[in-house]
Amino acid sequence: MSVDLDLQGIRDQALRNLLNHLNDSVTDQWNEIAPFEATDYTDPARAELERDKIFGEVPFIVAHTSELAGKNDFISVELPRNKVVVVRQKDGSVKAFVNACRHRGAQLVSEESGKCRIFSCVYHRWSYDPNGELRTVTLDTTFGDFDRSKFGLVEIPVEERHGFIWVIDNAQREIDVAAWLGPEMDAILADFNVEKLVSIDPHTYRRPTNWKILQDGFLDNYHVKYAHPNTAGKMLHTNAVTLQDYGRHFWFLTGRKSVDQFIGHDVTWDESMEKHTIESCYLAPNTMLLKHATHIEILTFRPVEANPNESIMQMRILAPTVEDSGLAQEHWEKRWKKNWNFLVSILHDEDFPILDGSQRVLSSMDAGTMLLGRNELSSHLFRREVDRLIYGTSEA
Ligand code: FES
Ligand SMILES: [Fe+2]
Repeated sequence: MSVDLDLQGIRDQALRNLLNHLNDSVTDQWNEIAPFEATDYTDPARAELERDKIFGEVPFIVAHTSELAGKNDFISVELPRNKVVVVRQKDGSVKAFVNACRHRGAQLVSEESGKCRIFSCVYHRWSYDPNGELRTVTLDTTFGDFDRSKFGLVEIPVEERHGFIWVIDNAQREIDVAAWLGPEMDAILADFNVEKLVSIDPHTYRRPTNWKILQDGFLDNYHVKYAHPNTAGKMLHTNAVTLQDYGRHFWFLTGRKSVDQFIGHDVTWDESMEKHTIESCYLAPNTMLLKHATHIEILTFRPVEANPNESIMQMRILAPTVEDSGLAQEHWEKRWKKNWNFLVSILHDEDFPILDGSQRVLSSMDAGTMLLGRNELSSHLFRREVDRLIYGTSEA
């Protein structure tokens, strides 16, 4: 399923909209203010719905292709419904399994990542091939006979597309990433050529915060200069977004301050504009992708089991390889280390304290009704998709 999406036209129009917005101090808007309650972030029953109706039903990203580069490379990931191991197969494909031995359920893989020709259980040493088949039952003459083909590792649906590894966290489902993305977002991701990039030192954070608060925090263009006055706020515009809504997913353009030089000029999009803007995508249900001139940042958020108060956030920098960058190895390493340090210091010093604090006080029994403004368009669309998935409110 592919379409001829006129990306040049979309970027041209978005750039013009953005420059007009900046000139007029306006932004794309939702049609109304939306009131909401603190229980959206604290109610265990709602969190259970989100675990099952969102993460148990639709595809989401768990890794970049380069994190499983060679055969028998694996990563273990904690998903809301299952603890999972993702393994690169001999033929280059990828499989994912529940990380539990089929004998008595010991944790099969304890490392976060590695390379393994056989998965051997620490408890009674049953072993499994990288394709999940049960290979050895120890002391099998005394164990008794059973059909080993039925006791391989339990498979979780997984697909590799556009340089990412996607799963649905539910052994009963089938995965079709292109259908989930829809033709427009599928074409946009294809255009980004993410598979040519490498993931540099992915960071994983376990936070005492609802996953939606984190997702909202990184969709939010309203807080930039207020919460980050001396860092991001110095370089990026606040409250100026132009957005393309694709039903579930959306694409939007925001500006660096340097884009101001084009206000009032008749400009068209070309690659030189990349350093003055940030192209972003919300990939439903839980991912924010930011495309910069030199690299891509990708942030994913998911709850820990059905706990409304705990989540796992992963952040990745995807950049051209040393060879493609034309930089010396040392310079390349220095550049991305510096980039990571900058991002991590903003996260730790500025975003996490605010977002963790929200979670703490939203547990107040009398927090009161709160408001999402018309200017917070991305958050409205994120809420729309979450509500649609958990309550089945409307079709995309
Ligand atoms: S639990 Fe794995 S071999 Fe017994
Ligand atoms: Fe922020």
